[in-house]
Amino acid sequence: MVQKLTHPIAKTLINRMRDKNTDAVQFRSCIAELSKILLLEAFKEIEMETKSIQTWQGTHDFEFINDKSIMFIPIMRAGMPMLDSLITLFPDAISGFLAMKRDEMTHKAVLYYDRVPDCEGKTVVLLDPMVATGGSLCDALDVIKAKGPKRILSLNLIGAPEGLSVVEERHPDVPVYIAQIDLHLNDNKFIIPGIGDAGDRAYNTPE
Ligand code: PRP
Repeated sequence: MVQKLTHPIAKTLINRMRDKNTDAVQFRSCIAELSKILLLEAFKEIEMETKSIQTWQGTHDFEFINDKSIMFIPIMRAGMPMLDSLITLFPDAISGFLAMKRDEMTHKAVLYYDRVPDCEGKTVVLLDPMVATGGSLCDALDVIKAKGPKRILSLNLIGAPEGLSVVEERHPDVPVYIAQIDLHLNDNKFIIPGIGDAGDRAYNTPE
């Protein structure tokens, strides 16, 4: 299931990211705000737990999402601003890390760092701004599924229809929440019109 945001604020933030004059600070800030909007959608139906807390009117029970049941996993590098944003909402959530990059020649994803702990019983929220061919997301989902999570949700900012079809085919059980679906991939497997290379733009890395 791919669920696309339709809100004008989401569109505005994505379109601001397309602008070549948007600097790295603004770029990361758009990623951060969009991540929160995506998580609002993704957690609409999430289970809550009752906790007793001391209020100014004595002790009472209230409902909360259990931070400790959540694991955020950014795909580095471009997923890092998404993580920075979301852990402010859930300070006790667990973070795991995957680093992947696309081989420039084959366009296939290469996993070069895996620091994802055991995911048993966790709601894993996978974070990556871009779904181009879908290879990185599919491979990341394979790695995470092997660690036994209760469920996985994927938050993505922008994707191409080709890549999203691949993800739906290989991982039909994983809901994908995405802010924008663009037209297609070019010959170099970049999203058109897209936002450029999100990792490079977020951190001012020369091409
Ligand atoms: C980008 C992006 C995804 C991947 C998407 O990462 O953040 O991880 O490409 O492409 P795919 O769907 O074809 O696999 P990139 O390789 O540019 O690494 P970076 O985050 O370090 O810039």
